[in-house]
Amino acid sequence: MPTALITGASRGLGRAAAQALARRGWSLIVDARRADDLADAMRGLTGVVAVPGDVTDPRHRADLAAAVGRAGGLDVLVNNASQLGPSPQPLLRDYPLDELGRVYGTNVVAPLALIQLLTAPLTAAAGTIVNVSSDAAVEAYPGWGGYGSAKAALDQLTAVLAAEEPSLHCYAFDPGDMRTDMHQQAFPGEDISDRPEPETVIPALLRLIDERPPSGRYRATDLAVPAVTP
Ligand SMILES: NC(=O)c1ccc[n+]([C@@H]2O[C@H](COP(=O)([O-])OP(=O)(O)OC[C@H]3O[C@@H](n4cnc5c(N)ncnc54)[C@H](OP(=O)(O)O)[C@@H]3O)[C@@H](O)[C@H]2O)c1
Repeated sequence: MPTALITGASRGLGRAAAQALARRGWSLIVDARRADDLADAMRGLTGVVAVPGDVTDPRHRADLAAAVGRAGGLDVLVNNASQLGPSPQPLLRDYPLDELGRVYGTNVVAPLALIQLLTAPLTAAAGTIVNVSSDAAVEAYPGWGGYGSAKAALDQLTAVLAAEEPSLHCYAFDPGDMRTDMHQQAFPGEDISDRPEPETVIPALLRLIDERPPSGRYRATDLAVPAVTP
């Protein structure tokens, strides 16, 4: 069975992705900073190795790479863990630069650092990298300049990586709005109950992983699985 590493798997999209792949029988390596939440999220799933830690910590990333080594290879890396930054999100003219550095550290530097550590096993498997992006990478929403520019950097990093590593499948995946903690943080005090659950995005993510279209940027809506009509 294939092996995937999914960062940020204790809730939201990462948890939904981990649950879907584990149910398929995949071997998984997962992380999140809070060990208890991660253990709760993975309870009842088989073939899951939980490695709690912070993706911005080089020692934790080395632990993840060691877990990949013990698993004997890696087919799919999902760089999902992400940081929104301050909430409410400040305008760029007021954006605290130390916070901006942390947003870039989590959303840009850590994904690339993991890719660098895992290029060898991914290449050996002709594997897939899914960097989870956002519409804020391509739309200029006021207040979204920190997070959005970090996701734009992640998109470009993905595109250049695809040009440099033709044996890999490299995707920036824009899931669209989802009812998660991060989304609530982006819209503090707002009722977000009309946003779709992260599980609704999983068929599109699985289609990307299964069908492996040409490397590029994909929105979940581009990959929506048509409803089966009787
Ligand atoms: N929700 C949306 O509407 C939306 C829209 C577009 C794109 N996205 C993207 O979709 C992805 C998933 O977002 P989500 O809404 O599911 O987020 P979420 O509910 O806030 O979950 C984030 C997950 O990442 C973990 N995490 C955060 N920082 C981490 C770090 N430094 N190291 C390790 N794990 C970390 C969190 O656990 P701990 O806190 O315990 O570490 C949690 O498991 C992100 O890349 C996000 O940018 C979301």
